[in-house]
Amino acid sequence: MFQKNLLGGLAVFAVLLFSTQVFAQVDQRQDLMKGQSAANKAIKGAVETKDFATIEAKAKDLMGSSEKIVGGFPKGSDKGKTKATAAIWDKSDDFGNAAKKLGTAATALVSAAKAKDEAAVTAGVKGVSDACGGCHKAFRAEKYAE
Ligand code: HEC
Repeated sequence: MFQKNLLGGLAVFAVLLFSTQVFAQVDQRQDLMKGQSAANKAIKGAVETKDFATIEAKAKDLMGSSEKIVGGFPKGSDKGKTKATAAIWDKSDDFGNAAKKLGTAATALVSAAKAKDEAAVTAGVKGVSDACGGCHKAFRAEKYAE
């Protein structure tokens, strides 16, 4: 009897631990995305004031965060308050490429900001936004799964 309860308790504990981890993964990647959103807004503001140093720094942040995207979506992390769609795991190569696209676009923006090339910066900002939007369109649901 005691043993049975103990096993039952352990099973409940394991499930709780597992869900806590999955939810933490969802929170972490959503925080990563919020950080990207803040960086993208800072870039747009800096474009207005021709603050190339900030554009460069924030675009570098995006280069770094783009490399963390795929790791933020481990298999099975499709539960809870998430807009992640099954396509992320069904078409994981495409998802990886969409993350790389952001890295490439951010790298181009860094170069444009370094060169203080306004036309290239404008194109670079669009490239970054397109990379965000492209991935969201293909892999993010309109509504939370819950
Ligand atoms: C490779 C795919 C991909 C790229 C590139 C990408 N995102 Fe996301 N983003 C997602 C997915 C998938 C979600 C949904 C995550 C979830 O709800 O678990 C998301 C969610 C978000 C959210 C909502 C976070 C929250 O609190 O729920 C914001 C804001 C966001 N992204 C901004 C950006 C910005 C800005 C960029 C570009 C600089 C970007 N994303 C690039 C896939 C991507």
